[in-house]
Amino acid sequence: MRKKIIAGNWKMYKTFSEAVDLVKKIIPLVKDSAADVIVCPNYVCLSEVAKLLPGTNVALGAQDLYWEKEGAFTGKVSGPMLKSVGVEFVIIGHSEQRSYFHETNETVNKKVKAALENGLKPIVCVGEVLAERESGKTEQVVRNHVEGAFAGISEQDLRKCVIAYEPVWAIGTGKTASPEQAQEVHAFIRGLLSRMYNKAVAQEIRIQYGGSMKPENAKDLLSQPDIDGGLIGGAALKADSFAGIVNFKG
Ligand code: PGA
Repeated sequence: MRKKIIAGNWKMYKTFSEAVDLVKKIIPLVKDSAADVIVCPNYVCLSEVAKLLPGTNVALGAQDLYWEKEGAFTGKVSGPMLKSVGVEFVIIGHSEQRSYFHETNETVNKKVKAALENGLKPIVCVGEVLAERESGKTEQVVRNHVEGAFAGISEQDLRKCVIAYEPVWAIGTGKTASPEQAQEVHAFIRGLLSRMYNKAVAQEIRIQYGGSMKPENAKDLLSQPDIDGGLIGGAALKADSFAGIVNFKG
């Protein structure tokens, strides 16, 4: 049985005090969760949020990293820097990075390798835009993202990764993929991993769904056999709605 894993992607929201306030509210609400819980604040809030997490069941994630360890790369943050403040997970290849900040399969792959080399667990985002879905290219796009992200990654390292299937047309739009639509792609990803690696590891990897997940639709999505959690944007910005997803009853 794969344990569910719910991550809140706070994106570019929350000032320092707002982030501290949010995590303080989340902690007691999710303490009895059957799922793994992760919060991913912006870089400047990571170390302060980290101080509040020991002794809780909430883990810390970052929203991106740069693949070099250090150097003259103004504006970038490296794996060792994230690790040094207590980050455990890192989101890589989010569609907003792909569409606004020149993220490609190649940079995703470099970031996945850098994360793993530094003991961080990647949450690798894949997913099609609306035009690709409408022209029947969903599987092709998702295959390309998965193969690109994990090129040269060993089975042992794959085990440390989480995949987030995020249909881009469902992100922040209020339009959720139906549980059946999402399940179809999740099963496709698992089949693909089985062909790229083997069945055992494909069965082990957790695949989150992301795209307008909220307490009202979480149960239907999370009850699908291949949906192992959620990467939550908008609904993760309020403690009640995030906890409503984390504490879903299957
Ligand atoms: P959303 O975002 O829940 O606001 O759709 C999900 C994400 O982008 O990770």
